[in-house]
Amino acid sequence: MAKISVFGIGYVGVVSAACLAQDGHDVIAVDVDTGKITAINAGQSPIVEEGIDELVNQVVTAGKLTATSDFEQAVLDTDVSFICVGTPSAPDGSVGLSYVTSVCENIGKALAKKDSYHSVVVRSTIVPGSTEEACIPVLEQTSGKTAGKEFGVGYFPEFLRESTAIADNYAPGLIVFGYLDDGTREILEEINGKLPCDIHAVEIKTAEMVKYTSNTWRAVKVTFANEIGNIAKASGIDGQTVMEILCSDDKIAMSPYFMRPGFAFGGSCLPKDVRALKYLAGSTGTKHHLLSAVLEANEAQIAKAEQMVIASGQKKVGFVGISFKPGTDDLRESPLISLAARLIDKGIDVSIYDPFVQEAYDTGTPGAGRGNEEVPDLESRLVADLDALIEGSGTVLVGNHYAGAVERLKKAANERPVVDLTRLNRDKVSDSQYQGICW
Ligand SMILES: NC(=O)c1ccc[n+]([C@@H]2O[C@H](COP(=O)([O-])OP(=O)(O)OC[C@H]3O[C@@H](n4cnc5c(N)ncnc54)[C@H](O)[C@@H]3O)[C@@H](O)[C@H]2O)c1
Repeated sequence: MAKISVFGIGYVGVVSAACLAQDGHDVIAVDVDTGKITAINAGQSPIVEEGIDELVNQVVTAGKLTATSDFEQAVLDTDVSFICVGTPSAPDGSVGLSYVTSVCENIGKALAKKDSYHSVVVRSTIVPGSTEEACIPVLEQTSGKTAGKEFGVGYFPEFLRESTAIADNYAPGLIVFGYLDDGTREILEEINGKLPCDIHAVEIKTAEMVKYTSNTWRAVKVTFANEIGNIAKASGIDGQTVMEILCSDDKIAMSPYFMRPGFAFGGSCLPKDVRALKYLAGSTGTKHHLLSAVLEANEAQIAKAEQMVIASGQKKVGFVGISFKPGTDDLRESPLISLAARLIDKGIDVSIYDPFVQEAYDTGTPGAGRGNEEVPDLESRLVADLDALIEGSGTVLVGNHYAGAVERLKKAANERPVVDLTRLNRDKVSDSQYQGICW
């Protein structure tokens, strides 16, 4: 069992401190608000939350949870400190880090007086990069010690929902933390080890980004459901019924399938149907902020890919894939068709390898090339052999992921500029020659 100090006895800090104490850890809660300290030490919760009064009373009575305003003693008497103070928005929308850095300053001063190992773990929600760029410098400056060597650092975001916070703590949907050193990883694995949830131990800034992505995703879902509800109501349809039915589909609608960063959506359905729903909304005088943004953002992703190819500085570009996804020759509203057309328009010589479109032409399929309304001379641009396409190209653009082509394309990425819209290799991120669209 660990000795843990929890800085900030608000909604997150109280629940976290009480649950850790319930799990058998020795917990010291620290706050600048003496009223909260008095409440905890009297066995009372300073927040309203299902089950928290009983839990605080129980763990304080058992001597597992105490509260203090003595920062230094709290650090000296524990192995790990959790920072759970508020991070309110600044007027410009940026995150307010002053409470977090103020706690880091106090913890750092105490660390200067401590010989044994101590880890500092931020639980407050802070934007990616903040632990490394704001917290660690303050901790190092005030302690005179080196992070990762003489003290540990981690970022362990909290995902509890107020009103079900204790239940969420014991049945989490997600556990992720970032760590600088093995000592911190071991403590966080031990603390979370018995919970019925996989543990994702990652880089600190990845954990920071997961927290923001989770909250923003929830906000997007609420806004999407509201927009659908508004459009449905204006057409005399019950939007709640629509959303309930949609949410029953965990194969397509609610699956992770469309949640992979990469290139624009396209094909014969998605762009057409988003436009049509937007039109329907407009025809009933209903606002459609999100639908408009979806179409705009999709266009912007095509423009982004175009800029990446142009930045490679090559005049001959070989496309790997031109249909809207691998496994089909369907060219209708393929974003790769739009991208190729934009590049051709700028004087770039585009050749194309696409085994499915090629097959349609080679076998005389009646619909071969159908749906292409933008690329001139499509058939004459096709190159049947991938090696020949690569050899004849200044830049290779990977638009579709064909399993049989991956090894050859990975090799090509060492030889010439490659713009990758699919992710050939999970270990590869953009460098001077290889450019991944979102990695
Ligand atoms: N409330 C939630 O549901 C929730 C869920 C997940 C994450 N978070 C994040 O967790 C963090 C804390 O949120 P909260 O709702 O618990 O905040 P809160 O405002 O309820 O509590 C923050 C506490 O920190 C204390 N504090 C401020 N400065 C301090 C200092 N220098 N030293 C010690 N204590 C100090 C305050 O007195 C207060 O008790 C925020 O970053 C928030 O975004 C909140």
